[in-house]
Amino acid sequence: MQLPEQMRPENICLSDDRKKVIIIDQASLPNRVEYLTLDQPEECYRAIQTLQVRGAPAIGIFAAFAMFVIAQQWEELPLEEFLEKYRKTSEYLNTARPTAVNLSWAIRRLQRIVDENAEKPVKDVIHLIGKEADRIQQEDVEMCFQIASHGLSLLKEGDGILTHCNAGPLATSCYGTALGPMLLGKEQGMQFKVFADETRPLLQGARLTTYELQKAGIDVTLICDNMASVVMKNGWVDKVFVGCDRIAANGDFANKIGTSGVAILANYYHIPVYTLGPSSTIDLNTPTGADIPIELRDPDEIRTMWYQKPMAPKGVPCYNPSFDVTDHSLLAGIVTEKGIVYPPFEENLKRLFQK
Ligand code: MRU
Repeated sequence: MQLPEQMRPENICLSDDRKKVIIIDQASLPNRVEYLTLDQPEECYRAIQTLQVRGAPAIGIFAAFAMFVIAQQWEELPLEEFLEKYRKTSEYLNTARPTAVNLSWAIRRLQRIVDENAEKPVKDVIHLIGKEADRIQQEDVEMCFQIASHGLSLLKEGDGILTHCNAGPLATSCYGTALGPMLLGKEQGMQFKVFADETRPLLQGARLTTYELQKAGIDVTLICDNMASVVMKNGWVDKVFVGCDRIAANGDFANKIGTSGVAILANYYHIPVYTLGPSSTIDLNTPTGADIPIELRDPDEIRTMWYQKPMAPKGVPCYNPSFDVTDHSLLAGIVTEKGIVYPPFEENLKRLFQK
């Protein structure tokens, strides 16, 4: 299918000869729009770990393309050696970040293709890996559009929406998840007022969400994370829309650190909270939020990273979890490409996969 211009993913693509994967360096935004061209396992691992490519669905798409371009370098190897190298490298890439389930989901999907075709010549296996990687991205484009449409059905003209972190096109393929309804609504002539939490410590909200919404001409106001309560109390927020990195079987979900606090505040002010994500983010093998592995990151992200001078005493211990888990009891609904899931989540999530 030839995608319309506005639905072509700009954040991740292959080079014309399909031998390298090209990404927008999200770590350089919004000050510099830079592209990185990658084809080595270590640089792909580093791109995920340092958030040059980030956002749960985008990590999965990137990993799939990365494995494809890496695998092409082993085309001349005997089959057994190729299969062994492929398995080891995809396991390595899978350890780059632990929380977003989309990474292991995409890697497992490719591994299945490799296993099912392990009798074929290496060249053919590589070709099939490439086709599956294309499919993963293509499916994400379609899923994001569906998520945006379902999410838009929850909004009305003039709504105030608060979002945390970045769940826009950069973090997916196009439209995004949590930002999708606003982007789609804007295309249809609707107006919203969006509040973007800055999202300490890595400022995905300040750097990326405001960048994407401003570019789309959407009314966006940046606030510090500790200002969410005030804008809610002022009556400026009608809905909270956030993304997700993993949704457990009971509806608990991991998202960027600070999301659970936002959800608790919103519940206090009777503002509905929705998480929006593709069904690949739902992990029925993870029973509850307590079973989701939470990534701990470098303390210097808190102590020094964004400052001209360090803002904390050298070596002060820091606790820097990258995600937190929002209890399902705080959630009004889960917006997926298959529709909106309402409580009771445990039963209804299971049912979603039976559709
Ligand atoms: O550490 P990040 O920036 O990768 O965290 C991203 C988030 O928490 C997003 O909200 C989530 O991945 C959904 S992206 C559509």
